[in-house]
Amino acid sequence: MISITGKIVFGFSGSDVVEKSIRLVRFATHRPLIVSTYEAHHGANATALSASPTKKEMGTNVLSSFFQLPGFIHIPFPDPYRPWFGDRVNEGQQCLDFFERLITNVYSAGLVAGVIVEPVLSYGGNIVPPEGYLKGLQKICRRNAIPFIVDEVLTGIGKTGKMFALEHWRLDPDLVCIGKALSGPLPLTLAVASNQLSDSWEAKDYVGISKDGYILGCAAAIEILRIVHDEELVANAARVGIYLKNRLDDMMKDLKLEGDVRGLGLMMAVDLVGSEKTKEPATSLVEKVINLARRSGLIIGRVGAKGNVIRFVPTLTVAEKEVDNALEILEAAISKTRS
Ligand SMILES: Cc1ncc(COP(=O)(O)O)c(C=O)c1O
Repeated sequence: MISITGKIVFGFSGSDVVEKSIRLVRFATHRPLIVSTYEAHHGANATALSASPTKKEMGTNVLSSFFQLPGFIHIPFPDPYRPWFGDRVNEGQQCLDFFERLITNVYSAGLVAGVIVEPVLSYGGNIVPPEGYLKGLQKICRRNAIPFIVDEVLTGIGKTGKMFALEHWRLDPDLVCIGKALSGPLPLTLAVASNQLSDSWEAKDYVGISKDGYILGCAAAIEILRIVHDEELVANAARVGIYLKNRLDDMMKDLKLEGDVRGLGLMMAVDLVGSEKTKEPATSLVEKVINLARRSGLIIGRVGAKGNVIRFVPTLTVAEKEVDNALEILEAAISKTRS
């Protein structure tokens, strides 16, 4: 569970609560710079987009650069399968060294208002950071009095098999963003901030939005949290998540596929490649498979810079039988592309 003693800032979307978190840490620290990771997705307003440097958000449209605000710097998110620094074993530490060097030699740590990170890099390819990375990032932040923000908009409320993904690494951030599954289809998001941060954000500096704390969203969230608790849905996500991973591992062997099965809990993905040696993304195969699967009633998305990572984030109530149905459709779609 999160153990932050502090206050909650309400929002109506994940993007909104990310923007409010960034405003909050800037007001609290009187510093300008926000650090986020390459290929993160923190939302779709100008502030969140500026913290989300991906090909889609920065590189495919000539207008994208207009949505990049000043005051954002970016660091690599460790990727053990395709390491930035070529060494999968030490990838986490090398990314931490990069960050530390950046705020020592290039910028001053005293200018950094906050670091925002996803516990699992979702749209970047469903990448789970190596052991020690997030704790190490938090440690560097603490050493430099930089607020540490964990964006749990996607991972929160059980999706990774814990109520919040940060529990996997026993993190205690200064601010946590929560959204999506919290209120299902109704708008309600939260930034849970430590007292130290929230007390320094004076009411006179707060500009709200008319739908902040949307009442129907609050009602939905209370009921959803009750159901998640009473029906032990987080334990269900952990159990079915392991089942999904095992089924995907078996599928890789049975169909002689090359690539990487990775994820946490129900946030599970398959990174398909042409060959394990080159790790060349099997983008067109994945595109065909997803279209075929959709025609048979299975809707799955693809993530990763090259669109070759098939990602599952099923609802918390999913059962093993539904995983079996989904995998049958997926396997049939893959086999069909080969016939
Ligand atoms: C980690 C993360 N943060 C923020 C957002 C933005 O949330 P919203 O779409 O509700 O604005 C998303 C959306 O996908 C997300 O995955």
